[in-house]
Amino acid sequence: MRKKIVAGNWKMNKNLREGISLASEIVNMVDDEVMDDVTVILNPPYIHLESVGKLIRGSGKTYLGAQNCNENDSGAFTGEVSVEMLKSVGCEYVILGHSERREFFKESNEILARKVDIVLEKGLKPIFCCGESLDIREKGTYVAYVSKQITESLFHLDKEQFKNIVIAYEPIWAIGTGVNASSEQAQEMHASLRQHLASKFGSEFADEISILYGGSCKPSNAKELFAGPDVDGGLIGGASLKAKDFVDIIKSF
Ligand code: PGA
Repeated sequence: MRKKIVAGNWKMNKNLREGISLASEIVNMVDDEVMDDVTVILNPPYIHLESVGKLIRGSGKTYLGAQNCNENDSGAFTGEVSVEMLKSVGCEYVILGHSERREFFKESNEILARKVDIVLEKGLKPIFCCGESLDIREKGTYVAYVSKQITESLFHLDKEQFKNIVIAYEPIWAIGTGVNASSEQAQEMHASLRQHLASKFGSEFADEISILYGGSCKPSNAKELFAGPDVDGGLIGGASLKAKDFVDIIKSF
């Protein structure tokens, strides 16, 4: 049985006080209202991690994740944060390859492969983002494009490593735009990605990997999006900044 997962990506929002208040609202609601079979992950900015981690620790249903990490162990990389540091504050997941990092910080498939390696080496789990631009969607080459992102950053892994990967398909044209992929578009891509994983690792193995959808997911469309047989949950941006909306999305399963 694949894990159902809903992860909140706060991006660069909320000061520490606001972040603590949002996290405690979410943790309380999740504990009271959400079924045990859904894994909830909060990915606040780095400086919130320790405080949010403390709130989560008593919960049992909610986990802590970061939005990025550096690909090196430690050393002279001013302004960067290592996986060891993330681990020391209780992080279990790290979002890697978000389209904003690919676009604004020029993260390539190759650099992401190195980040994936160090995250796995330290015992954390990557939430690996992939997705195409509108241009590529319109050209019709989106399956090949996204499959290549997966191949180049993840296909050097063996099964033992890969079973710790969560994939998040996030079409760039749907992120923060209010225009979500239709449930058919999401299901088509998720099924293709699973097929791609099956071509490398076999279908039994591919069936165990959770693939999340991200891009303008909200309480009003989550149920329909999550109904796709290959859609195992969501990576939520804007709607994860309001406790009720985020928890309503989690309850859409
Ligand atoms: P959005 O962002 O839900 O605000 O579209 C999703 C994401 O970037 O992970």
